[in-house]
Amino acid sequence: MEPQLHIHPDASSNSQAAAQFLADTAQQAIQKNGRFVVSLAGGSTPKKMYELLAESPFADTIDWSKCYIIWGDERCVPETSPDSNSRMAKEAWLNKVDIPAEQILPMDGTLPPAEGAQQYEATLKALLGENGQLDLCLLGMGDDGHTASLFPHTKVLDVTDQWVSEVYVEKLDSWRLTLTAPFIRNSASIAFLVSGAKKADALQQVLKGDYQPATYPSQLIIREQANTHLFLDEAAATKVK
Ligand code: 6PG
Repeated sequence: MEPQLHIHPDASSNSQAAAQFLADTAQQAIQKNGRFVVSLAGGSTPKKMYELLAESPFADTIDWSKCYIIWGDERCVPETSPDSNSRMAKEAWLNKVDIPAEQILPMDGTLPPAEGAQQYEATLKALLGENGQLDLCLLGMGDDGHTASLFPHTKVLDVTDQWVSEVYVEKLDSWRLTLTAPFIRNSASIAFLVSGAKKADALQQVLKGDYQPATYPSQLIIREQANTHLFLDEAAATKVK
């Protein structure tokens, strides 16, 4: 299965295009289902995209009252931590638009990790019902080919009977919560936002290399699921164009 590549000159134009894609997907989902459920990526790349969504024209055109926000992964830290993915998204975007507070559903990084994963899975089942389909899953990619917190050679890569799992990331010496690969693949649409030259090698391996998802976990999504869009800047796309 081939993902759709959307290549833009730089990180700023790439963020703009991804924001437009999210806005268009939101409008279609709201028209079709009466709501839009989106999972957000963490890390640093999406910050600019989130800031754009808090400004005109997106801030004025998306029906925020019908949007539901969840997260693809979270560091096991309090939301006050500078490492918190939900903190970053709230400060860059969500605190500036009128999404009802009860429709913004961050993972709880302060619970014991396994408990946090179980609680979030229950939250998602209450929101989505048993079919568990997101309208859009927004993802980033690390320079090691991980996505969400699906890191290379971690046990979570083999989890198939959960939507959310805890994962200990040895190289970071930290616990994380993450959506699992099967749950992500079940999304109606998936969009990766990847910028910067340091991602070029991983992107080449993920897209063109041998299928070895234990080493390049993003392959569990990109090589397996149709309706996957890659928003890339030129620097990240040098080896896959
Ligand atoms: C996280 C993210 C993670 C991120 C990649 C890329 O919690 O860190 O969810 O999967 O998307 O690590 O991070 P950057 O955008 O900072 O390069």
